[in-house]
Amino acid sequence: MSKNISFIDGLEGILKYREIDINQLVELPYDAVSYLLIMGELPGDQELADYSARLRGEREINREAIDVIRMCNFNIDSMEALRTIVSFISQFDPDINDNSPEGNMRKAIRLIAKIPTIVAAYHRIANGKEPVPPDPSLSHGANFLYMIRGSKPSDLEAEVMEKDFILSAEHELNASTFSSRVTASTLSDLYSAVVSGLCTLKGPLHGGARAEVMAMIDEISSPEDAEKYVLEKLAKKEKIMGFGHRVYKTYDPRGVVFKQLSRQLAEAKGNMYWYEIAEATERTVIRELVEKKGKPIYPNVDFYSGVIYKYLDIPPKLATSIFAIGRVSGWIAHCFDQYEKKKIIRPRAFMLDEC
Ligand SMILES: CC(C)(COP(=O)(O)OP(=O)(O)OC[C@H]1O[C@@H](n2cnc3c(N)ncnc32)[C@H](O)[C@@H]1OP(=O)(O)O)[C@@H](O)C(=O)NCCC(=O)NCCS
Repeated sequence: MSKNISFIDGLEGILKYREIDINQLVELPYDAVSYLLIMGELPGDQELADYSARLRGEREINREAIDVIRMCNFNIDSMEALRTIVSFISQFDPDINDNSPEGNMRKAIRLIAKIPTIVAAYHRIANGKEPVPPDPSLSHGANFLYMIRGSKPSDLEAEVMEKDFILSAEHELNASTFSSRVTASTLSDLYSAVVSGLCTLKGPLHGGARAEVMAMIDEISSPEDAEKYVLEKLAKKEKIMGFGHRVYKTYDPRGVVFKQLSRQLAEAKGNMYWYEIAEATERTVIRELVEKKGKPIYPNVDFYSGVIYKYLDIPPKLATSIFAIGRVSGWIAHCFDQYEKKKIIRPRAFMLDEC
């Protein structure tokens, strides 16, 4: 069953969730894709309406969580706060000790619904503002941007945010999903499994690369500067963030969609600046590494998504947390699969040599 949650063809650049290509899935609401991942099939109209209503009804976080956010250190990445608050709110979940499928489903809904509210509240408080309560009339993506800004996003911005969550939602047995599964395999609770995923996602070789891409785009400063920047990095044998992948040996299919979306946003905002820096960076990396050296180093999921966050006015500090908002549905789908197996994951040490 776990192999069907998603499928990757790293040579052809194909990604499917539950046997459906991501290019089709990005046309759906995030809630439908979340349902697909967790339940194994796409919802009908009524099932989607019920699932969305349950998610929208669980978006609020309690006063205690807001108080803890106020005590966080805002000088560091938001992932530290997100990890802490997800762990903190688990104590208030009435189903924390109920590991039945029904209890786990209720926890899953709360986790998916509340994580965007935690991230947005953190952002507001870090910037000296009061948190904005969730608006149940808005989609997952639109509501997140609304809670961050205090005003409703444009239709295009909301659509891009939804697609970002969808493209980030699942990716087979990546490092953070593996962590979540290992925790679930001990029959520990779903919050603990999600916290494991968060701890692993934050590393710069995994979800943390998105924030590094944003910092890189700021550092490059102009499209003309991109070539020089890349050449200098490569001469120092440093990696260019947002490029390369353990599984894809061609263009990451999520990167293809993110590139189109970032161009669309750039055009809509009448500001091609960051897009052009990114394109010039991509051109140089492909020329230097793919064409000259034959290495399959193309933009991955984090490259053009980082560009999108610049256009959405999202600071780098939030980038990995936003990745987590999308990815939590994938972690949960894997945890449910692992709970069914009731088998502990216990690799032998010699297997590390193959990693
Ligand atoms: C994702 C990543 C960890 C995959 O690692 P991997 O499969 O173990 O590949 P390696 O690190 O062994 O790289 C293989 C070769 O390509 C080069 N390479 C890989 N990614 C590169 C990058 N982003 N920039 C420059 N060179 C890169 C390596 O230097 C290595 O060269 P060598 O064979 O001459 O030593 C790696 O590509 C990377 O660190 N990318 C940047 C971080 C990033 O964007 N992470 C998000 C992943 S979704």
